[in-house]
Amino acid sequence: MISIGEAQTRTEIDAAIALQLRVFCDEQGIAKDECLEGNDTALILVARDGNDVVATARLRDLGSQVAEVARIAVLPAYRGRGIAARLLAALDAAAETHGVRRLVMHPHAHLEGFYASLGYSVTDDAAYRIGDHLIITMDKYLAGPNT
Ligand SMILES: CC(C)(COP(=O)(O)OP(=O)(O)OC[C@H]1O[C@@H](n2cnc3c(N)ncnc32)[C@H](O)[C@@H]1OP(=O)(O)O)[C@@H](O)C(=O)NCCC(=O)NCCS
Repeated sequence: MISIGEAQTRTEIDAAIALQLRVFCDEQGIAKDECLEGNDTALILVARDGNDVVATARLRDLGSQVAEVARIAVLPAYRGRGIAARLLAALDAAAETHGVRRLVMHPHAHLEGFYASLGYSVTDDAAYRIGDHLIITMDKYLAGPNT
């Protein structure tokens, strides 16, 4: 059974970062520094299969009740089982707990439909490239405690 929650120990944080590097650097060819940037100030969520970290995502405060969702990575063998969708739902809940009203993400353009199905919309920001990857900006407004 897959469990999802905040990385609880240094070991789990290190496993999440190793997974980021495996997926974004090794698999997608994104520069290591670019991949690691921001981890030290982010809330890191993990999906665990037993003691193994099999997926991760992170939330980073940008101020003014805005936070960035990023580094959504699922081990290849675990893809297509709804784990990313569960991680994103858990990030929504964590963000709401911290008083965040707007989530921003910079996903691969080809994943627009997936994130749209989870409530994100493409913003007016121009698409850009990281290496071979076309990146778009999407956002989502969370219902606040009084709405
Ligand atoms: C994208 C990713 C996070 C999805 O994780 P997952 O656990 O397989 O996602 P889920 O099972 O919750 O949902 C899969 C959905 O994403 C879609 N999807 C997954 N990979 C896709 C791809 N490469 N191209 C298009 N759609 C894709 C699936 O079609 C599916 O849509 P559906 O729910 O309509 O069937 C995972 O494939 C991954 O780690 N990819 C490499 C890292 C990456 O690109 N991360 C996203 C950065 S923006």
